[in-house]
This record gives sequence, structure tokens and C-alpha cells, in this order.
Amino acid sequence: MLTIALPKGRIADETLKIFETIFDKKFLFEDRKLILEEGDFRFLLVRNQDVPVYVEHQAADLGVVGLDVLEEKELDLVRLMDLNIGKCRVCVGMKEEDELDYNSPDIRIATKMVNITKNYFSKKAMAVEVIKLYGSIELAPLVGLADAIVDIVETGTTMKQNGLKVVETIMESSAHLIANKNSFIQKKEEILSLYHKIEKEIRAGN
Ligand code: PRP
Repeated sequence: MLTIALPKGRIADETLKIFETIFDKKFLFEDRKLILEEGDFRFLLVRNQDVPVYVEHQAADLGVVGLDVLEEKELDLVRLMDLNIGKCRVCVGMKEEDELDYNSPDIRIATKMVNITKNYFSKKAMAVEVIKLYGSIELAPLVGLADAIVDIVETGTTMKQNGLKVVETIMESSAHLIANKNSFIQKKEEILSLYHKIEKEIRAGN
């Protein structure tokens, strides 16, 4: 039995669709249930940022999570493969009329992704004050809480509708299949068998 942590929402749906195609049966969470057992698999439905935590502690053998979350958490996990779903970018955004002043000594950046933000600006030798938020990041520059944001851009609609623009792209992201290091040793055959099936399915889909 393999336990797989999925992030609630579209990535979980798309991952389960991949399983449905591979195993030719339904994989569907019942109403508000957070555990789904089907055949040799047990799926857990968790918050996006919590997926690597479940996998690192071996509460799940495998997980599906965005590269942005992996970069932010810097945990010791096995990255198995890019699933090519949940594609997005991590970007610096500002108000339409503003420009990023690289020489300013006191730029305030609002973000959920504190580590990615700090690493990015320290590489540019820019001193920034990072303000940690948990959501609605696009609001921060509109009300003077921050000069800029670092956030996920998928379609660009949220930024656009709030009068913001992308000034820089920090990284491209997509959902990755990850494994716990011990599980990868203990359940290597099961994991590799699944890995090859998913890989084949993804290649066929492309
Ligand atoms: C993300 C992100 C943006 C939005 C971008 O939030 O923080 O707000 O999606 O998508 P778009 O470019 O297609 O408009 P999400 O909906 O994942 O919610 P969260 O803030 O709770 O993580």
C-alpha cells in the first residue's frame, strides 16, 4: 500500500485523473472525506504547503506538490518527476504605475514565500523587508502595506484585475511527484512501478 498526499484543488483532481487512466477505475474522494482508499493506494487530501510535511514525516510515502512549495520549504525529499500539471510562475508584482527601484534601501515585499523572496533579492544584493502574509497578497501594494509582492501567477487575472503588473519572474513551477527517503528504499519496487506507469501516461498525454 502506498500513501500519497495530494494538494486540495485542481492538482489533486488532475492527479486522480492520471490514476484513473492508468488503472482504469474511479478515484474519487467522497464529499468531505480526507482519505480515499482504492486498491493499493491511500490518498490524503491536504493543504498545498502541508504536502511536503506529510511526506517528510513519512505520514505519506509520496506527495504531489508545486516546485515553488519545494523551493520554499527546502526539505530533504526525493524529487521523482515533473508531472507537467499545475503550471505557474513565481513573480514579483507591482502597481501598474510603479517601477522597482534597485537602489532603494527600504523596499517592502509582501509574500507567502518568504525564503524564495529573501534568496532572490539577496542574490541581487538588494536589502528588502519581507512582510509575511497568508493570502490575498495582491491587496498589499494597493493599500500601502508593501511596495511590491512575490506571488504565484497562473493566468495573470488576479494581478490584472487588481491593477498590478509582473515586473520580474523568479521561477517557473509545476507539480512534482515527491517521495519520502525511507519509503523510497522500503517500498522501492512499488514506487518505481507506479513511477514508470505515470511517466508513460504523461509522455502519452504530451
Ligand atoms: C494564487 C495566487 C494568486 C492567484 C493567481 O492564489 O496567490 O492570488 O492564485 O492566479 P491567477 O494568475 O490565475 O489569477 P490561490 O488561488 O492559489 O489561493 P491562496 O492565496 O489561498 O494560495
